[in-house]
Amino acid sequence: MTSVSIRAAAQVLRPPEDGLPYLRHDRAGELTLEPGDVLLEDGRIAGFEAGDADLVVDAAGCAVVPGFVDCHTHLPFAGWRAQEYERKVTGVPYQEIARAGGGIASSARSLAESSDEDVLAQAETLARELLQHGTTAFEGKTGYGLSRAGEARAARLGRELAARVVQPMRLTGLFAHAVPPGTTADAWMDEAETLARECDVDALDIFVESVAFDNEHLARMGAIARDTGRALRAHVEQFAAHRSVPVALEWGARSVDHLSCLHPDDVAPLAASDCAAVLLPGAELLGGEHTPPARELADAGAIGALATDLNPGTSPVASMPVIIGLGVRRYGWSVREALLAATLNAAWVLGWSHELGSLESGKRADVLLLDGPAEHVPYRFGHNPVAVAFSAGEPVWVRPDQAWRLGHEKPLDPASAAAGRRRVP
Ligand code: NIG
Ligand code: FE
Repeated sequence: MTSVSIRAAAQVLRPPEDGLPYLRHDRAGELTLEPGDVLLEDGRIAGFEAGDADLVVDAAGCAVVPGFVDCHTHLPFAGWRAQEYERKVTGVPYQEIARAGGGIASSARSLAESSDEDVLAQAETLARELLQHGTTAFEGKTGYGLSRAGEARAARLGRELAARVVQPMRLTGLFAHAVPPGTTADAWMDEAETLARECDVDALDIFVESVAFDNEHLARMGAIARDTGRALRAHVEQFAAHRSVPVALEWGARSVDHLSCLHPDDVAPLAASDCAAVLLPGAELLGGEHTPPARELADAGAIGALATDLNPGTSPVASMPVIIGLGVRRYGWSVREALLAATLNAAWVLGWSHELGSLESGKRADVLLLDGPAEHVPYRFGHNPVAVAFSAGEPVWVRPDQAWRLGHEKPLDPASAAAGRRRVP
């Protein structure tokens, strides 16, 4: 298929101007949601008029928005940890679960015991679930390898996953996630550095927490990232305030993620920087974490982003619409603020905002048709509003009850999904 005409939508989400690498949250109100048409040609957004096309889409009553960009997941991983979740909610402390062999160590065991094919099959299924919930680009991480060979394998599997899925996928080396048994955090950082230098990854990440790594290790990862030309990302201030944000900013981090316990003095410097605040309300809800000062961050002009944190421990959540609903409720964010955080600003985190994240002529045609107005996404909490997902101009997911909008009465030819697998520069 070479062209698609999406006609007479009730709302089309547009940025206030073209070419923005991100939009600070104090400007989210400038996003427009006006009625209109969208034309897709040769995998790109061609314009905002109704034109002749191979496929005509009836968008009456619908919102058309950019595909969601899930900028923080832990794909690929092996298995789940549902029993651990039950223990957690019934009052067993995390430390006790970890002592009993749970937590990251448990997922590391599952990964080690699973074949490459089993790991990739689970991750591919989840990538399909992401797509059906509107995620047209995502990030994955290493981090469950827990040994030099295990992490190198996780990086290789991450790239194999990227080659198999419809969505463009970035891979982050979370080589400093947990301290493997029998070593120390200091000693493991030497291994993490070797992995960072040798593995094919797009960005580097580290988990700063009393049970993992500290701010000195974060600074060291910052130096490695700078030296190897990778973006620095960091899991910080999740369970307690360690004042990691000033360190991350000093090292030019692309994002700081979690921030449930962000220190009030760190709000203004973070908001003034080009470093995104990636908030993960799924992990907050399911882990009973504190709520970050998200309203303050938005008002101060931070580059806010939302993501699922999809992982078997803290957030087995694949739905960006659910995350948007949680963000609006927990943070007191407007619909525009939450959609911005799930699209353009999330694309910025992945270094892809020149190609993805907003409806602009010339950008890759990763576009969602929602089954109602944008305001329904957080409001109808738990409902999946994605009627049609386009990847590079191809309808790669059509909800069966919405197929009439495309004139399709039967499921799409799977070959059209393959056509969406075009690389993003
Ligand atoms: O983002 N905080 C550290 N890492 C993950 C959870 C890892 C796990 O429990 O499996 C997170 O929440
Ligand atoms: Fe995470």
